[in-house]
Amino acid sequence: MQTNLQPQPISPFHVAIIMDGNGRWAENQGLPRPVGHQAGARAVRAVVRTAVEQGVTALSLYAFSSYNWRRPEEEVAGLMALLRHFLTIDVRDLRAHGIRISVLGRRDRLPLALAKAIAVAERSTARNTGLHLRIAIDYSSRDAILAAAQQAPDLSPEALATRLGTGDVDLVIRTGGDRRLSDFLLWECAYAELFFTDVKWPDFTPAHFTAALGDFAKRTRSFGGLMESA
Ligand code: IPE
Ligand code: IPE
Ligand code: MG
Repeated sequence: MQTNLQPQPISPFHVAIIMDGNGRWAENQGLPRPVGHQAGARAVRAVVRTAVEQGVTALSLYAFSSYNWRRPEEEVAGLMALLRHFLTIDVRDLRAHGIRISVLGRRDRLPLALAKAIAVAERSTARNTGLHLRIAIDYSSRDAILAAAQQAPDLSPEALATRLGTGDVDLVIRTGGDRRLSDFLLWECAYAELFFTDVKWPDFTPAHFTAALGDFAKRTRSFGGLMESA
């Protein structure tokens, strides 16, 4: 007999986004890749606003992976400058809207000015109780899990999860057409719903985001158990 599966409530929940496709977006228009990253930063602003409106409680954004150091020096420098700009200029507005900022990933390889901007952004929003915006910079989930395992008082799942401190992800969105996690929040995504779209990140609008949330709301999550019958 067909079961009447209950959709999940849309909120509160944790959304993680792998913001991919900036470079191809620019190249398709004959523009240099950094222009794609600038357009991507504009998409971030719109999506953060939508997350607040939709009642998302935590939003984790993959901005720069530990593997992205392999890119040309100029592209990396441009990305670091964009991140610094976001964490100094945009943060003023985010702070006023009660958003709390955390940055995931290694700090020791970042330009000093960016590391300082991160520290100020985190400190000045620490008491905010609105959306928790996590930005992953020089991030590798494998590295984060290894570091957490080395620091955890015991190797229980709870101790490791506490050390990682990011919380389980409910929904992962990856733009740009590829269908992989690229070492993002592997522990936290153990039971995440996955949503892949061919839309390149700079073209990802609040309407796309809302549609992804709507798709998530229709899914059933039994976490290995059985769904209740109607
Ligand atoms: C995502 O866009 C941004 C970063 C990884 C920093 P890409 O720069 O990877 O864009 P594509 O995948 O080359 O189009
Ligand atoms: C994933 O995008 C990382 C970010 C979005 C920051 P990449 O473009 O680096 O991923 P791969 O290389 O296609 O896996
Ligand atoms: Mg890419």
